[in-house]
Amino acid sequence: MTVTENHVVSPRNRPIAVFDSGVGGISVLQHIHALLPYEQLLYVADSKYAPYGNKTLAEIQARCFEMTNFLINQDAKAIVVACNTATAAAIDTMRAKYTLPIFGMEPAVKPAAEASKSGIIGVLATTGTLKSAQFAGLLESYGRNVKVVTQACVGLVECVERGELDAENSLKLVRQYCQPLLDEGADTIVLGCTHYPFLRPLIEQAVGKDIALIDTGAAVAKHLQKRLSALNLLAESTQMAEVKFWTNSESTTAPVVIAQLWGKSVDVRVFSDARQPHPL
Ligand code: DGL
Repeated sequence: MTVTENHVVSPRNRPIAVFDSGVGGISVLQHIHALLPYEQLLYVADSKYAPYGNKTLAEIQARCFEMTNFLINQDAKAIVVACNTATAAAIDTMRAKYTLPIFGMEPAVKPAAEASKSGIIGVLATTGTLKSAQFAGLLESYGRNVKVVTQACVGLVECVERGELDAENSLKLVRQYCQPLLDEGADTIVLGCTHYPFLRPLIEQAVGKDIALIDTGAAVAKHLQKRLSALNLLAESTQMAEVKFWTNSESTTAPVVIAQLWGKSVDVRVFSDARQPHPL
């Protein structure tokens, strides 16, 4: 129980915290808010350090610890790492270090392999995700009976961070990254980074309507609901709850893009790292 000025807050009524290297995790937050509208949500964009995809394991782990400490100070009852790259790099060390429930996400190789008719699936993700041991494990477990074509999408996260969801430059990059998957015969493409669902219209434009695009936001929200229910941690309220946004970027772009992606105007708070930033 947390004691505030006048009352004691039951763990069930504390917020669920969601974080990402930047704004991409909002694609997951949307699913969580739709499924669990009575849960208070905190979203934190580690915008100052985006992208994570080209950083070392130690650098990403340091950022994840920083985010988690910040979110525990905000009274989070559970944390969702709404980032494939951070999950691959840090989820095990985070779970070893902290006692609160921590949820991660991974590219949807399993559902894609099950859905594919051609037996060839494509995976769009960051360099960090694709070269991680976690991803190698996924391929080992679920990619044995299909051909998996991977594509690192350098620069796409930055397009979304700048809010360039229908820019010519973004479409050019999307086409460049999708073409090799089409050339190999993929009929199912995994959006293996939480930023990419925001580029879905461009990806559909590049690959056509016959290719299935799979992302994990909805599955993560369902898993979160199930686990919190099992832990007796779902909110008691039946009133639409608040969603609060934070960023550590001092630029004016991040709040504008957060509102753009969330779909309505929001108050975005700026925070600074509690201790000296890890030297990246
Ligand atoms: N949204 C993150 C992911 O799912 C992007 C990582 C990055 O910042 O490069 O991987």
